[in-house]
Amino acid sequence: MEASNTMFQNCLLKAFIFLLIDLSSCFPSEPQPQGELPYLTSDAKEVAGKSFDYIIVGGGTAGCPLAATLSEKFSVLLVERGGSPYGNPLVVNKRFYGFSLIQTDEFSSVAHDFVSTDGVRNTRGRVLGGSTAINGGFYSRASEDFIKNAGWDKELVKDAYAWVESRIVFTPELTPWQTVVEFALLEAGILPYNGYSLDHVEGTKIGGSIFDIWGTRHTSADLLKAANPKNLVVLLNATVKNILFHSNGNETETTVKGISFIKSDGNTDQTYSAYLNQHKNSTSFGDVILSAGAVGSPQLLLLSGIGPRKHLENFNIPHVLNLKGVGKGMKDNPCISVLVDTDPESRQPEPPQVTGIAKDYKFIVEGGIIPISFNATRMPIAAKIAFPVSEGKLRLNSTDPRRNPSVKFNYLAEEEDLNNCAKMVKLLERVAKSNSVAFYLGFKHQDKLMASNDDERKFCKENVRTYYHYHGGCIVGSVVDNDYKVYGVKGLRVVDGSTFQESPGTNPMATLLMLGRYQGLKVLREREQSSSSSSSQQNP
Ligand SMILES: Cc1cc2nc3c(=O)[nH]c(=O)nc-3n(C[C@H](O)[C@H](O)[C@H](O)COP(=O)(O)OP(=O)(O)OC[C@H]3O[C@@H](n4cnc5c(N)ncnc54)[C@H](O)[C@@H]3O)c2cc1C
Ligand SMILES: *[C@@H]1O[C@H](CO)[C@@H](O)[C@H](O)[C@H]1NC(C)=O
Ligand SMILES: *[C@@H]1O[C@H](CO)[C@@H](O)[C@H](O)[C@H]1NC(C)=O
Ligand SMILES: *[C@@H]1O[C@H](CO)[C@@H](O)[C@H](O)[C@H]1NC(C)=O
Ligand SMILES: *[C@@H]1O[C@H](CO)[C@@H](O)[C@H](O)[C@H]1NC(C)=O
Ligand SMILES: *[C@@H]1O[C@H](CO)[C@@H](O)[C@H](O)[C@H]1NC(C)=O
Repeated sequence: MEASNTMFQNCLLKAFIFLLIDLSSCFPSEPQPQGELPYLTSDAKEVAGKSFDYIIVGGGTAGCPLAATLSEKFSVLLVERGGSPYGNPLVVNKRFYGFSLIQTDEFSSVAHDFVSTDGVRNTRGRVLGGSTAINGGFYSRASEDFIKNAGWDKELVKDAYAWVESRIVFTPELTPWQTVVEFALLEAGILPYNGYSLDHVEGTKIGGSIFDIWGTRHTSADLLKAANPKNLVVLLNATVKNILFHSNGNETETTVKGISFIKSDGNTDQTYSAYLNQHKNSTSFGDVILSAGAVGSPQLLLLSGIGPRKHLENFNIPHVLNLKGVGKGMKDNPCISVLVDTDPESRQPEPPQVTGIAKDYKFIVEGGIIPISFNATRMPIAAKIAFPVSEGKLRLNSTDPRRNPSVKFNYLAEEEDLNNCAKMVKLLERVAKSNSVAFYLGFKHQDKLMASNDDERKFCKENVRTYYHYHGGCIVGSVVDNDYKVYGVKGLRVVDGSTFQESPGTNPMATLLMLGRYQGLKVLREREQSSSSSSSQQNP
């Protein structure tokens, strides 16, 4: 107590002496990461032929917390097609927020572009940490209604959110521009003001962030530090090609045996396998769990022969199961974005940190500063429709798992979405033309921000883009059951954004991180119950 008091006085003195120039030295230095990462390897041969209790495909937002949790009791292999996020400034450093999206290539960049057949450019993570390594890092929980509708256990959901938050979520300090956006949202009538909150509440609020106050990003990969390192192997730079099955024989259900994978920079014909442990007398055994994201997971089911028969025949993929829902219900929240600055300038990029939740939770409005090249930024204010009804589908375009499948979202195809979009544009206009924004940027606000005539619907159709919250393709109730097990297959689950019929009204990352932890806990519980019930059967 006394010591810290003296230290504090010391600091004040220092701060005074250095006239606030060197204030940072008074604060604790950047914390050392707690815990150690489990074993990471990029050597496919090290893993080839081995068996594990669980194999998780995709070290992304949901996959990492899931792997960490299952490793508490079981041996786990986590396979990720990308490399490590550690030491990559484009991932780790907030100053370079958005740069990864402008430096992409087909097979190795951390952001993997895809263009939906709607013609809208989109992207997904390709690195340990998945899309949490390239996204805005804005953290906000789903509403109670969403959790109730999903049929999740409320208390377990709370615990799972808290587990994530204690490790990788931080309270942000607003920058001047973020404060201006906050005022602009309030000025546009997005009320009440809720201050800092992780909850999804109507009005204007400040959310959490996976960037800490030193500007370091904490991806989902940091959650692997909570794993039992003895039970977890993380294989990087390996792309899963398909799921392996036991020959069907007489069984009514297809049973999973393992996975087949390739080196991400290798030849598709050079394949390796890893298997599930099969304990003969056990009533339950582990699973292959797909956490490859809304684009990756349906793609992998199709590549494995699970999906509409006709489509798979076109690619000569041996048909395993005619599960028609695979690749269906692909949705992306339509987004309209306006640039409030006049010209590109070179500012420090800033992820959005303040959000407006408006019109009965239908619209989400945020503003940031994004790079458009290595020395130029723009300042968009963007809004999304929270629960769109239009949907599309995903189909294979190639049997090479490294290539994008073809995805169509059918943005604004339904009248309801188009009408909502028109209303959203009016709201966005109020935010963009607010006095707060005009005052800060120091010029009279452009009337030509948007089509000033009343044709907002046309404006919507011409300007729709993504908010990067795409989801669906392996939806609960269609492809997976309420335990996230794939219908008609033993030993296969999907846990990631592909299982969402609706994305949580808010930004989805928090809920996907939570879902990984939550489903991991569910599996641990389920195994505990089945082992105690099977041992009581053995000893009546
Ligand atoms: C640019 C951008 C900004 C965003 N900003 C925010 C934000 O600020 N806040 C928010 O809440 N949400 C945001 N989102 C959305 C959010 O990040 C995603 O919805 C979420 O991260 C998706 O999680 P996931 O687990 O479904 O998939 P992902 O996190 O994408 O994980 C999938 C993983 O699987 C791997 N994989 C895929 N196929 C294979 C294969 N065949 N073999 C091996 N590995 C494979 C991928 O490399 C990836 O690591 C943003 C998204 C993007 C793209
Ligand atoms: C893994 O892939 C990343 C991204 O392509 C690359 O930078 C890295 O060198 C690779 N590592 C190994 C060991 O192949
Ligand atoms: C199915 O099981 C029956 C009886 O157990 C056996 O006679 C038959 O050969 C099996 N068929 C196949 C295809 O394995
Ligand atoms: C499995 O069950 C069989 C028959 O019930 C028994 O003989 C065998 O010892 C069991 N094996 C294990 C590993 O428990
Ligand atoms: C960015 O760099 C290019 C080439 O170096 C230069 O032509 C351009 O003017 C710069 N733009 C800004 C906004 O500084
Ligand atoms: C793959 O995509 C390209 C470009 O969109 C398209 O021209 C081609 O027909 C597609 N191929 C298949 C097999 O779907």
